[in-house]
Amino acid sequence: MAVKILWYLTAPDGPVPWEADGRWNTGFEHLQQLAGTIDKLGYYGALLATGVDEVHTLTAAMLATTKRMKFVAAVHPGLIAPAKLAQIAQTIDRFSNGRLIYNVINGNDGVLPSLGFHIKHDERYLFSYEYWDAFRKVYAGDSSGYDGQYIKIAPKPSPLLTPNRGQQNQPLPNIPLWGAGTSAPGVEQAAKLLDVYLSFADKPHLLGEKFKRVGAEAEKKGRKLTFGTRLQIIVRETEEEAWEYAQYLVDRTSVQYAKDCIIRQLPPGETFETFKSDNPQVQKNIEAVRAGYLPKAKDYEIYPNIWTGPALHGFNIVAPLSGTTLVGSAKNVAARIKEFEAHGTHAFILSGWPLIEEAQRVADLLFPLLDLDHGFEVPLLSPVRRASYPTRGERNQSLDQQEAA
Ligand SMILES: Cc1cc2nc3c(=O)[nH]c(=O)nc-3n(C[C@H](O)[C@H](O)[C@H](O)COP(=O)(O)O)c2cc1C
Repeated sequence: MAVKILWYLTAPDGPVPWEADGRWNTGFEHLQQLAGTIDKLGYYGALLATGVDEVHTLTAAMLATTKRMKFVAAVHPGLIAPAKLAQIAQTIDRFSNGRLIYNVINGNDGVLPSLGFHIKHDERYLFSYEYWDAFRKVYAGDSSGYDGQYIKIAPKPSPLLTPNRGQQNQPLPNIPLWGAGTSAPGVEQAAKLLDVYLSFADKPHLLGEKFKRVGAEAEKKGRKLTFGTRLQIIVRETEEEAWEYAQYLVDRTSVQYAKDCIIRQLPPGETFETFKSDNPQVQKNIEAVRAGYLPKAKDYEIYPNIWTGPALHGFNIVAPLSGTTLVGSAKNVAARIKEFEAHGTHAFILSGWPLIEEAQRVADLLFPLLDLDHGFEVPLLSPVRRASYPTRGERNQSLDQQEAA
């Protein structure tokens, strides 16, 4: 099986964007440059997260600078009426030649009420299933209406003028739905609804076990899912260079950020002062933060080349989650990706900072070592396929030899 590699198209950006002094002032032109880079380098697509910029506006604004990348746009169900969402999706899909994918976000009880949505966690999944079911029907051209518990859409009156959509009555291929959900209702919904199930990364075999459980639920419903994960990445020609950069990120990170991230990951009822981890390395790392300093980069490596050091999406000292990072030489990171792939992971949504620079590094160093399933020939940045890289020691030795010659 081959893999799909996606990048990240969401503000903010910068070398250390989780710290105020490592974040850039970016805007529209920067995002256009980023999208153009992702497209040109041959990534399968990019994830557009909820948060700063509205995803449909962002996608539409990037169409003129891109040709083939897919936009995996995160959408909270319920904020836009499903029939309207279908119209927006049809428009983007026509304008982009079928490049829109939705990332179904069921959100959390802390954020959704501030957006005017008040259905709580477990019930939200029932709502969400209906929402996307109705969306798909309208999107596919079914105008007979929808009569659900939450979603009610009246049949559409015959229009006086047929909108100028060419083959108006032919069903359009539907928008693929990607999404996550680890809770029991989340898994149940994923099994019924999604095309691609996403999860934050963990050790490859543990992620594989989760995917097997979710896949088995889908099979009970006669459905087949494919699977994807989200990872940060630091890839360099050698292990030494990659870990040096990881250490640089640790050095640029504040103890306060580490503390805030630990607190966010604590189980209910625990505090920063009282929490005790069963994992001795994690416990040692937490004690260091309590004492007011950050352990060395290598102390957050939980598995070869899998790191829970600082990242924009979290500093997952307590346990791997959204900030989990692949760190290492291109050869070793490619081996780790293949290990994830052997445990059922097909899509990898990656990010490294700054986004443009690191997207180029990944395309340059990693793409030639992977079997990519992007639906088009992925251009190699370097015309010479490099299977392995010299270590820093070997390189220095060869430089010494050249100098001596
Ligand atoms: C790859 C990936 C991307 C995600 N992107 C977003 C996002 O953009 N916005 C958001 O609010 N949550 C995002 N999430 C969080 C999930 O949607 C959230 O964990 C899930 O809805 C919680 O489900 P659960 O309560 O069933 O575990 C993302 C999760 C994953 C795995």
